[in-house]
Amino acid sequence: MNIGIIGSGGREHSICYKLKKSKLVKNLFCIPGNAGTSNICENINIDFNDFVKLHKVLLCKKIKLLIVGPEIPLVNGITDFFEKKNIKVFGPSKKASQLEGSKAFMKRICKRFNVPTAKYKEISNIREAKRTIKKFNLPIVVKSDGLASGKGVTICHSRNKAISDIKKILNGKFKTSKKVVIEEFLKGEEASYFVICDGKNYIPIGSAQDHKRIGEKDTGPNTGGMGAYSPSFLIDKTIEKKIKKKIIEPTLKGMKKIGTPYKGILYAGLMIENSEPKLIEYNIRFGDPECQILMMRLKNDLLSLILDTLEGKLKGKKISWIKEPGITIVAANKGYPGKYKKNVEIKKINFVKQNNKTQLFHAGTIKKLNGKVMSYGGRVLNSTVVSSSLKKARNKALKILDQLEWDNKYYRKDIGFRIIDK
Ligand code: AMP
Ligand code: GLY
Repeated sequence: MNIGIIGSGGREHSICYKLKKSKLVKNLFCIPGNAGTSNICENINIDFNDFVKLHKVLLCKKIKLLIVGPEIPLVNGITDFFEKKNIKVFGPSKKASQLEGSKAFMKRICKRFNVPTAKYKEISNIREAKRTIKKFNLPIVVKSDGLASGKGVTICHSRNKAISDIKKILNGKFKTSKKVVIEEFLKGEEASYFVICDGKNYIPIGSAQDHKRIGEKDTGPNTGGMGAYSPSFLIDKTIEKKIKKKIIEPTLKGMKKIGTPYKGILYAGLMIENSEPKLIEYNIRFGDPECQILMMRLKNDLLSLILDTLEGKLKGKKISWIKEPGITIVAANKGYPGKYKKNVEIKKINFVKQNNKTQLFHAGTIKKLNGKVMSYGGRVLNSTVVSSSLKKARNKALKILDQLEWDNKYYRKDIGFRIIDK
């Protein structure tokens, strides 16, 4: 089967890496991909949000299945568009994608189907905002309703700041949002939990801890994620049972009930306090960089799992994992998540020894015609290692990044510090 992977990050490189191990895969295309994916599949450099143009390419390359990494094309309806053209798509429908595409939609689902989450209110004008925030204790969490590339949430320690942030959103700071969701602040520790769903059945597909802040010890501005480890040490058997019974199952039943059965990966961002999980957010895709570790630890054939999902045959399927934990450390262009220099050569990248337990996944890289690899995006590389302990995995992952000669290199050395360095 010819398969297209949509996206260009470390997540997509790791999905390509895992698919390459499947005997069911014939040709693999990454759209648009990066320097790393170009080593293992054919990159097609087009705008995947232009579905009409994309369709022409899929026909030309005889691509019969699309696996979608990022949320934007899913929220824009890539699944509905290509299913009508008889091309399979792994990812939820446009309507079901509202679980990530609209915070208000997600909160309404939680309310209607009794999913534990922060108390909230939907706001669409400033008068309503002024009235409502009086009823919330500080800090108040202000969220833009629509997609905002990870920049749509602020934790406000004064009501004035909350009003000012709400005004900015209502005045169009994020084009996707005309509404604001305000929430009570949840205390506790965050964890990520992933399931794969076929519309009727679901199977857990791993847990992880992400480090979203740019600085050591989780300080500084938010990023897409500077590193992660899996499994999450916060989620034991008892908590997992609660996550399934109180959060995942009512959500999936609810989605079915409202006529939008969920198919694809569902990623629950959770806050856990006193062994009680609450839902912070849903994402409709694998996390990046969490996916990179899951792809290294997953023993199943990924394509066969995806095909079972698309055919509604997940019931009774078993997922098996390499027992050892894994870590991934993101190397970013210095300056990220603010401004940074592009097109800086990464030397010695070809000397990195890679195997089943060690991979250097690419994200924002491009390969020049002369073969040189250049840093291009904010997050650039993901040093991903599975080992007998997290500490060993981190040491190995750091060594790989240490050996790269690249002027603009920045990475956190403390990923997993709450477990490794306690
Ligand atoms: P979201 O985009 O909804 O995941 O929010 C981004 C980040 O903001 C989360 O990973 C949390 O760290 C934080 N956050 C969001 N909502 C809340 C909340 N209700 N209470 C505390 N922290 C929150
Ligand atoms: N690593 C966080 C995310 O993928 O949303």
